[in-house]
Amino acid sequence: MSARCEAADGQSGAQTRSCATAFCCRTCGQSFPLSESVFTCERCGRALDIDYDYELARRRLAELDLAVRPANIWRFEELLPIRESAAARRVGQHSGCTPLIRADRLGAELGLRNLYLKDDSTSRPSLSYKDRVVSMALARLLELGGSEIGCVSTGNVGTAVAAFAAKAAVTPYVFYPNRLEHMKAQACRALGAKVCQVEGNYDEANRECRALALESGMEFANITLRPFYAEGAKTVTFEIVEQLAWQAPAHIVTPAAGGTLSSRIDKGLGELLQLGLAETDQTRIHIAQPEGCAPIASAILDGDADIHACTPTTMAHSLAIGSPGDGYLVIDAVNRRGGTARSVDDEEIFAGVDLLASTEGILTEPAGGTTVAVLSRLASEGVVRDDEVVVAIITGNGLKTLEDHPSKPWRSKVSCNSSAMLSVLDELRAETAAATG
Ligand SMILES: Cc1ncc(COP(=O)(O)O)c(C=O)c1O
Ligand SMILES: [Zn+2]
Repeated sequence: MSARCEAADGQSGAQTRSCATAFCCRTCGQSFPLSESVFTCERCGRALDIDYDYELARRRLAELDLAVRPANIWRFEELLPIRESAAARRVGQHSGCTPLIRADRLGAELGLRNLYLKDDSTSRPSLSYKDRVVSMALARLLELGGSEIGCVSTGNVGTAVAAFAAKAAVTPYVFYPNRLEHMKAQACRALGAKVCQVEGNYDEANRECRALALESGMEFANITLRPFYAEGAKTVTFEIVEQLAWQAPAHIVTPAAGGTLSSRIDKGLGELLQLGLAETDQTRIHIAQPEGCAPIASAILDGDADIHACTPTTMAHSLAIGSPGDGYLVIDAVNRRGGTARSVDDEEIFAGVDLLASTEGILTEPAGGTTVAVLSRLASEGVVRDDEVVVAIITGNGLKTLEDHPSKPWRSKVSCNSSAMLSVLDELRAETAAATG
């Protein structure tokens, strides 16, 4: 155990209500004290998860009424792994608790009468679901007394790390692969992060960042702090089920890249059931991936228990992980719950972005377009039925990715006088009429 970790474990300051007990390995059953600086199992090499004392959690959850719980990422702090209050209070006070939107107009297009969108495209501070996971990693870093943080990112982890680090007065170093939406790197720079874009794809950059973390001693949000990072994703499940008045949906449709979000949705559902908060065992999880990078969806559809890594070729850069670390957990969760997966091509993905925008007024990035396109497939195939409660998770904001969106020209250089403008308006109205038939 490092000296730094002993200090973190000294637990001298005020404690959160966390009921976390240990790191645990789901593969071989080995457990490790939370005070240790580990992220993979020393026995079998798998990524570590975090265990809780659920009896204690049941009591602590009952002690505090929902009305007095904070409307942020720490709402169900009992089921989160951060134990030092001072660290938790410095992170994510305005993160989480994103809206669950009843999507009547998109639902009408797809033939679904009870469709909801969990809109993490409006997440604070960085407009993607990654605010949930990075907040937990950053809080852990503060528990450890760290002052700098690294990450490897397909796009959104970087902007989340940059934003959270700025607020927590920590120095962020963001490593990006060769292909990404430039706006995301620019946003990191604007937020004060140091950015290094490498000549390799995400999986190559991830492998090297792991070595870099070990060589440099720098904590990486989604590598060395990964067990904490992953726990942040569960908060989306708690929020969805609470927002549906503790009635779990029949279906959750979620995009997947590394598989953290989808596997932790499953963990969150399991915890709600175990704690008697909601009947969640009937909820099916469906995975959305781009055709150009669908290792998880392919394994599910082919009935494989293992992932076959691929080299990504898709414009949905945030989903371009060919070797998903949590893929095996996702396969298990989807199969156990009777869910399925679909992959869609880039054209369908951008059509999904447009459909969501024109029906619900939500501008999402290709990850969200992937989810909408897959939802559309599942609805037309009858996998999700018209009367069932369906939640689709919109995980990222389209303002960061507009430069990749097929461009739609507009009328420009029109004379600034009303008669010229009226004739353009007539043309535009004619276009609208033609489009709507
Ligand atoms: C917008 C967006 N949605 C979904 C994902 C997929 O998340 P995960 O890696 O947890 O499967 C990512 C990140 O990779 C993302 O940036
Ligand atoms: Zn193990």
